[in-house]
Amino acid sequence: MGFIDKLFGNSAKEEDKMTTEKLNIGIILGSTREGRVSPQVGEWVKGIADKRGDANYEIVDIADFNLPFLGTTDGTEPGIAKWNEKLANLDGFVFIVQEYNHSITGALKNALDFAREAWNNKAAGIVSYGSTGGARAAEHLRGIMGELMIADVRVHPTLSLFTDFENGSVFKPQSLHLDNVNAMLDQVNSWSGALKTVR
Ligand SMILES: Cc1cc2nc3c(=O)[nH]c(=O)nc-3n(C[C@H](O)[C@H](O)[C@H](O)COP(=O)(O)O)c2cc1C
Repeated sequence: MGFIDKLFGNSAKEEDKMTTEKLNIGIILGSTREGRVSPQVGEWVKGIADKRGDANYEIVDIADFNLPFLGTTDGTEPGIAKWNEKLANLDGFVFIVQEYNHSITGALKNALDFAREAWNNKAAGIVSYGSTGGARAAEHLRGIMGELMIADVRVHPTLSLFTDFENGSVFKPQSLHLDNVNAMLDQVNSWSGALKTVR
């Protein structure tokens, strides 16, 4: 055992691990409908994020978990446990949010409701889209995140269905969003790292 270990036990090693290990950030696709555009937006965010090299970024697709509608089953579907496991292994989130009737999708709300501790004391950013940049949906999500003890960061890239998509379906983001996505990721990483100490 080295001098530092003898003095401080394993705590020095633990602290070292916390500062050198990369954070795991999930990019959560909020829509599940046939023909959705969220995978295009999620891949674009991941492309920008991966170039930074500061965290492990992964796309988390709610559709992959086949979550039932909350309260309609006995809760033993394997997707529910897998969803909680996936979230538990993440330190922070970027929500890809689309506006449905001035709010978030039912699929995202259902997925949010299917976990509790796995969300707590973590940070999140929002990238939203819609006719007004998905702003109304994003603000609803901020309220929900308060209850789930997810610290939502300030910077929020908003994409327009009119100027960042062709025919509302082919994603062609304007270059001005790049700086905003990076600034949002700066904040998500900073707070995700800080909140690790709380958990
Ligand atoms: C049920 C439904 C409701 C919608 N309501 C709104 C709305 O209130 N405001 C808005 O800006 N866009 C609205 N839209 C347009 C969506 O933002 C747009 O179709 C977007 O591509 C949806 O995301 P997705 O392709 O990932 O599902 C709505 C779309 C659907 C399917």
